[in-house]
Amino acid sequence: MSRCLRDVAKLQKIIKNVQFEGCTVGFVPTMGALHEGHLAIVRQSKKENDFTVVSVYVNSRQFNNEEDFRKYPRTEEQDIKALKNEGVDVIYFPRTRALFSQEFMPLKFSLDGLDKRLEGASRPGHFQGVIEVVHALFLHVMPTRAYFGQKDFQQVLIVQKMISKLKLKVELVQVPTVRARNGLALSSRNSRLTLEQKEEALVLVRILRFVKEGYSKVPLSQLLTQAKAQMKGTALVLDYLDIVDKTTLIPLTSKQPQAVACIAAFCGEVRLIDNMLLIAE
Ligand code: PAF
Repeated sequence: MSRCLRDVAKLQKIIKNVQFEGCTVGFVPTMGALHEGHLAIVRQSKKENDFTVVSVYVNSRQFNNEEDFRKYPRTEEQDIKALKNEGVDVIYFPRTRALFSQEFMPLKFSLDGLDKRLEGASRPGHFQGVIEVVHALFLHVMPTRAYFGQKDFQQVLIVQKMISKLKLKVELVQVPTVRARNGLALSSRNSRLTLEQKEEALVLVRILRFVKEGYSKVPLSQLLTQAKAQMKGTALVLDYLDIVDKTTLIPLTSKQPQAVACIAAFCGEVRLIDNMLLIAE
């Protein structure tokens, strides 16, 4: 039976008992507004661990835009229902004062530039907010494994960097992006799109597929120019499209056997991101 908890002491008592019995703890941090993408991550954690904790916390520190934070969808009742349905062991709603107590010290270590590129360049301070909350959540949940979706590819690399730098004893597991049948990457922000905008947003996945298809055949700069041109005449406004190294996120100047295409664009007020792994044939 799933339990909903808000109190860190109660959560830790349960986790310590679970660990004392030699069981593994899988952890899925979320900001709620759950969709099939989250549920796929939850299912993987359930499959690979004896006990699964899902946290739901909309972290103001990682929003660099007050409006975006205010409008972020909040669907607590539905989330609880969906997680109970998946048989999650604990649904954790942490309290802000427990995550960031008065003695809280901002984490200060270098992310080796990962936080400055792509999303980091467009949303200054975003990843500092992410690592602070993820670190605080790890201290609360003490997981064996933590699960993150590939849709936030840069977040996965940054959390992995934090784990390595702080020598945390948690294994990060990346779970593939879940897409709607038409290809749109599932995201909590999609719920802010109209039906028409959801159609228009498909240009993101179309561009990524175009880049994937052309990666082996077309010179990089030409490929990017042709891909960006596909955004013209659509209702979307491109923030960035880059083909980057899959570990450093540095834009490629020459082709590598594997790379990642990352894209971000505004669809009305809503900022959408997506990415695709590229393999040279
Ligand atoms: O990916 C998210 O939903 C958030 O960035 C996370 C990892 C839950 C931290 O707030």
